[in-house]
Amino acid sequence: MIRNRKWLVVIISMLVFMFILLSAEEEEEKPEYVGYKKCKACHKEIYDSWKETTHATSFQAVLDSTGLDDPSCFECHSVGYGEPGGFVDTTETPDLAGVQCENCHGPGSLYKKFSIMKDHEKAVASGLYEQTEEVCLTCHTEEQSPDFNYEEAVKNIKGVHIIPEKEE
Ligand code: HEC
Ligand code: HEC
Ligand code: HEC
Ligand code: HEC
Repeated sequence: MIRNRKWLVVIISMLVFMFILLSAEEEEEKPEYVGYKKCKACHKEIYDSWKETTHATSFQAVLDSTGLDDPSCFECHSVGYGEPGGFVDTTETPDLAGVQCENCHGPGSLYKKFSIMKDHEKAVASGLYEQTEEVCLTCHTEEQSPDFNYEEAVKNIKGVHIIPEKEE
């Protein structure tokens, strides 16, 4: 009788252990924001071009108009405000101010690995956005940007960085 109970305990423990293992594996990793510095290393030419866009340079204008009093602005004027890894405030996360790579391309913690980046499907599965007008319209709303014209705006060097020539 005692022997049997020991076995029961062993079997139950094993089942519990397997259950924990399985549920840990099922929990998917969520992409987090990492900031432009992580992208710069591999996309130097694009970084140089982005840095000159109003998206990169305009954060000061927001501070000048409201100071730090109004967090409602950060949703469109910083990276990932309120999201994992995203902008908190200018003291804690100064490198996440302004409109950056990840506002248009998605939170990069998972897709920024070389092996994933070079595979479009894997990258999208890891959080990379497909480039569509919708991405822009989350900020360029009717209210904020009544004259927004996507076809023109993507070609505006003040809005979107250059696409470097590929070296084959
Ligand atoms: C380890 C190097 C590396 C890092 C870090 C990296 N990338 Fe990439 N990225 C690549 C490579 C390689 C490609 C594929 C070739 C290409 O298009 O330049 C690529 C492609 C892309 C593409 C086009 C992908 C597609 O399938 O349409 C985007 C957009 C992009 N990267 C954005 C980013 C952003 C944003 C970051 C930072 C969060 C980042 N990358 C970080 C190496 C990197
Ligand atoms: C829904 C997104 C969104 C929110 C929220 C938002 N903005 Fe903007 N803001 C934009 C867009 C888009 C533009 C660019 C408009 C354009 O040029 O078409 C802009 C432009 C600006 C500019 C002009 C900067 C320049 O260089 O001319 C300032 C200043 C500004 N916003 C401040 C604020 C402040 C302050 C708040 C909070 C009270 C705020 N914004 C909230 C999207 C937003
Ligand atoms: C305002 C939105 C916006 C921001 C900010 C932005 N991008 Fe892009 N990016 C785009 C769009 C739109 C395209 C696609 C252009 C096309 O396909 O013609 C693109 C294309 C790319 C590509 C693919 C280039 C290729 O060879 O096809 C890479 C890589 C990339 N971006 C990296 C970055 C990095 C790194 C940053 C930050 C330093 C950044 N982007 C910031 C909108 C943005
Ligand atoms: C996270 C919010 C956000 C996203 C996403 C976004 N923008 Fe913007 N965009 C802004 C803000 C804020 C400004 C105003 C910058 C400023 O203060 O002048 C702006 C300004 C611009 C400008 C005006 C530059 C100038 O000075 O005339 C263009 C063009 C532009 N965006 C194009 C785009 C395009 C194209 C996309 C999508 C590929 C896009 N934006 C996505 C927030 C965004």
